[in-house]
Amino acid sequence: MILNTPNPFRPGAGRVPPELAGRSAVLADFMGMLEAVAADGEGERPWIISGLRGVGKTVLLNQCARNAVDAGWVVVKLEASGSQPLAVQLAKEIYVALRKAATASEKVKRSFREAFAVFRSFQLKVDPAGTYGFGFDIQAAAGKADSGQLSTDLAEMLESLGLAARAAGTGVLLAVDELQEAPKEDLEALNVALHQLGQDPRPAPLMFLGTGLPSLPSVLAKASTYAERMYLYRTVGLLSDEDTKDALVTPSQRERVTWSENALVVVLKASGGYPYFVQACGKHIWDVAASRTIDADDARIGIDRARDEVDAGLYNSRWERATTAQQEFMAAMAQDNDAPSLVSVIATRLGRVQTAVSAARQSLIHAGLIYAPRRGYLAFTVPGMADYITRFGRESRHAV
Ligand SMILES: Nc1ncnc2c1ncn2[C@@H]1O[C@H](COP(=O)(O)OP(=O)(O)OP(=O)(O)O)[C@@H](O)[C@H]1O
Ligand SMILES: [Mg+2]
Repeated sequence: MILNTPNPFRPGAGRVPPELAGRSAVLADFMGMLEAVAADGEGERPWIISGLRGVGKTVLLNQCARNAVDAGWVVVKLEASGSQPLAVQLAKEIYVALRKAATASEKVKRSFREAFAVFRSFQLKVDPAGTYGFGFDIQAAAGKADSGQLSTDLAEMLESLGLAARAAGTGVLLAVDELQEAPKEDLEALNVALHQLGQDPRPAPLMFLGTGLPSLPSVLAKASTYAERMYLYRTVGLLSDEDTKDALVTPSQRERVTWSENALVVVLKASGGYPYFVQACGKHIWDVAASRTIDADDARIGIDRARDEVDAGLYNSRWERATTAQQEFMAAMAQDNDAPSLVSVIATRLGRVQTAVSAARQSLIHAGLIYAPRRGYLAFTVPGMADYITRFGRESRHAV
């Protein structure tokens, strides 16, 4: 550790980085949208942000949510999962947001009166056994959000939230992380609901932000064909050299620690701008640095340690969980490094016809390890996976 100076770097899932590098453009656009929605009291097109594992989707979504909270918005945030219906998760999080509204000013509470009642009927339909007390009595709004058709009920629930927010002079942000994980029928219902809300001549001031893996746009399109036109799609990716430097140098400067140019060259090359690995490098380099000026040797030692940690935590677990057939498939892909592989070429490398490898392909897609960036091609969802397989895959492959 550098002279007992606390380590600012934060490798890990969803951990707030000391500097959110390279995302100012997307954040500025998001804030512009938020302000426009609040000013007009009218909803905007829903957003989808997709990107590879560990590029910073969760921290970006959380930053957007924090900004919305700071702007006085009602924020409903959740992480979709395949094991729980989206509607139940939504009910739980809308409840939390409504409880906050209930304890805000009298004006806000009054504005949300109808939304409480609609929520009650929505909740009784989707999660009747759940406990949702408000500390005051609420009658369900009969005939609202209780049809049993999720898309209709969701649209009515969200509209009622949006209208309440409009009356209170604000807006609603619905932010869903890992959206690709939600069951297909739930995504279909969500698409229909958002589509319906958007068709109102004066849509309620609701903003939707969904984040997920690069497969998310096609997952949504499979659920409803018009999803391609309905959402505004953006991607987040690896950091440029400038942004990687910013991610490392800016937090260090705050602690009066500097990086030599040589050290930066070494870490830029090793990290490839992969945000998760940049944080891991920053943390380990900081831990081994001998003085307040980080040099190339510090960088090399720290990078080695970071690589060990990331190999064990990120890559090895995924590799070990794979079956032999899946490992062979991934090893064939790894020959293209991180570039997308042609499915037909993978089959040739495995000495099989394409149909004979389709089970492994499907199961890897299902497990979220690979995705189809375009028709006929496959790529890893985790940056650096190919490199890991090249370094370790051969010797650790399951015995056949
Ligand atoms: N813009 C950024 N600048 C610096 N560090 C970042 C940035 N974005 C993310 N990180 C760091 O990268 C790591 C991964 O971030 P995060 O968990 O948000 O990624 P993710 O895309 O949600 O990953 P997953 O697909 O696994 O959910 C964290 O340690 C985070 O602090
Ligand atoms: Mg995430």
